[in-house]
Amino acid sequence: MFSQAVSIVLGVHACFLPFLWCFKSAPFCPSTSVTVSSFINICNDFVASKKIPPSRVKVVDLGSGSGTVLFAAAKQGFHCIGYERNPWLVAWARAKTRTQGLSSLVRIYRRSLFSADLSDVDIVYFFAVPSMLSDLERKLDKDLPTSRQVLVVSNGFALPNWKYQQLKNGLYIYLRQPEETKVNTTE
Ligand SMILES: C[S@@+](CC[C@H](N)C(=O)[O-])C[C@H]1O[C@@H](n2cnc3c(N)ncnc32)[C@H](O)[C@@H]1O
Repeated sequence: MFSQAVSIVLGVHACFLPFLWCFKSAPFCPSTSVTVSSFINICNDFVASKKIPPSRVKVVDLGSGSGTVLFAAAKQGFHCIGYERNPWLVAWARAKTRTQGLSSLVRIYRRSLFSADLSDVDIVYFFAVPSMLSDLERKLDKDLPTSRQVLVVSNGFALPNWKYQQLKNGLYIYLRQPEETKVNTTE
């Protein structure tokens, strides 16, 4: 009787927990193939303008879901890091990383995107809900490196206070300049 009750409780959790995660903040909804290929073009333009190979560039997806964006970027040779708090999606994306032979280029952390290490990132991508964007903007202001140019791409929604450079296929594109450039331009 007791073991039956435990099985029922575990079964109910297994079925509904993924959906509970969804309702807590940005729900899982993978970027479309059009969005992903636009993002990859934007990343390729960024590295071409800087004349550096993708292998020297770190791409972070904040809320990486099933890894769609990470895999597309890794196939271009970028080093990719995902932060995702839904354990089912993390397990699924890690398994796909292995089956696609991308383990050397993709790492996925099961933790909040607000704890992401952005200290040496070059490109940041996110597909978040508007209610998260103020906090996300504060994190970017605080944690992005100040010594280099960083490309920030938001799918679907603009950051509340940043001024975007371009809007392409629903992607808001920001180029965060290094501190010394900002000082020079105001002189
Ligand atoms: C709209 S989906 C985007 C998935 C993926 N980036 C893509 O574009 O295909 C948003 C993802 O963010 C995750 N997420 C939401 N809040 C999060 C948080 N605080 N920390 C980590 N992941 C989070 C959700 O679980 C979901 O998988």
